[in-house]
Amino acid sequence: MKLKQLESFLGDLQQFSNPKVELEQYPTGPHIASRMLYTAENSFGDVSNKVVADFGCGCGTLGVAAALLGAEHVIGLDIDPQSLEIASLNAEDLELDMNFVHCDVKNLGWRGQIVDTVVMNPPFGTRKKGADMDFLAVALKVASQAVYSLHKSSTRDHVRKAALRNFNASSAEVLCELRYDVQQLYKFHKKKEVDIAVDLWRFVPQKDKLGGIIADESLR
Ligand SMILES: C[S@@+](CC[C@H](N)C(=O)[O-])C[C@H]1O[C@@H](n2cnc3c(N)ncnc32)[C@H](O)[C@@H]1O
Repeated sequence: MKLKQLESFLGDLQQFSNPKVELEQYPTGPHIASRMLYTAENSFGDVSNKVVADFGCGCGTLGVAAALLGAEHVIGLDIDPQSLEIASLNAEDLELDMNFVHCDVKNLGWRGQIVDTVVMNPPFGTRKKGADMDFLAVALKVASQAVYSLHKSSTRDHVRKAALRNFNASSAEVLCELRYDVQQLYKFHKKKEVDIAVDLWRFVPQKDKLGGIIADESLR
């Protein structure tokens, strides 16, 4: 599928009707989401024929993009059941076979070879400090191949250190810096559009000598 076609499909998806500020619910726009998944597929081969998990999937944009790019299986996870309903309708409208799991990503116990690639636009941690790092820690335990994630550019050094030192990533690379337009969703946003610089990251989880991922501190 061409990039423009992917962007156009994503632009038609239903988004949060009543976003919950405490969960930092803002959608990834079609421009960024299409480029994120297109890069994952075309530069690294991390999507087609892979099992992809969309952490904090919201209305499903990133997972839908993965499914449209030929992922073998896509699982969307979110703590908010209303978002999962919308995500499920979005998948149905496009006749995509996706699974959705209602859970707190922080408590996810999956380890090992179930998921190849995690894609996510986690809460930036502005409402609940450290939420972005909680997502990243779990994503690096769950993914066997790669994690694609958006983080505020202002946190770049912190994210790199945490990924490499605390979460055992074998590499942490900023693929590009993007301007993230959050339309005026919440009352406390004074400007019509809120423009934030965000980094698109690619992290690679560390593998042990037998090719499995190192999932648990106690196994090291
Ligand atoms: C910034 S939004 C991104 C939504 C969607 N992935 C997208 O790209 O449009 C963050 C999402 O994370 C979800 N979320 C927040 N905390 C969570 C948690 N602890 N476990 C699972 N999902 C969570 C929110 O409900 C929201 O849908």
